[in-house]
Amino acid sequence: MNKDIKTILLSEKQIDDIVTRLAADIDRDYADKRLVLVSILKGSVMFTAALMGKIQTNAEIEFMKVSSYGSQTKSTGCISVLLDLKREDLAELDLLIVEDIVDSGRTLNLLTGLLRERGAKSVRTVTMLDKPERREVSFTPDYIGAEIPDEFVVGFGLDYDEKYRNLPYVGVLHPDVYTK
Ligand code: PRP
Repeated sequence: MNKDIKTILLSEKQIDDIVTRLAADIDRDYADKRLVLVSILKGSVMFTAALMGKIQTNAEIEFMKVSSYGSQTKSTGCISVLLDLKREDLAELDLLIVEDIVDSGRTLNLLTGLLRERGAKSVRTVTMLDKPERREVSFTPDYIGAEIPDEFVVGFGLDYDEKYRNLPYVGVLHPDVYTK
């Protein structure tokens, strides 16, 4: 185990089981749809790759990079699109946004709104991790891998200062790392 990790929250085996379950749910729901996975960079890359490998429905893949800014006093905010989805055929596509984690809920709340406004046929969301305690806007992902407590987690795509994304498990970061 990496020396900066205090405890493992989800092992490789647990992650594999979660991804298998989510892929089966998605296959069940998208059998007759035009599935496009929209992976949100950078955190969701490992989850997206694992999920793609298990989904049996024909699926396309797209990437977006966004950052959301919200104030404490408003339930809305604004979203800055750093890498956009460029498709002319949105009205024919069933988009499934793939995220590593939902925290305040702002990113997915704004992004689902944006893609619906642009006329996508359908927009749903799948997240590997959900921290419901941290929610600042009302948002419920359609598919959730695991609900986790409000701890500083890294690995399986999630970073601290751009590091630890490559860990194959989800772990709680040792406080020494970020209180130094
Ligand atoms: C993280 C995560 C989500 C968002 C969730 O991305 O991947 O996109 O934050 O937080 P929210 O629910 O409070 O909006 P981050 O901005 O850290 O970028 P990264 O994926 O490149 O690490």
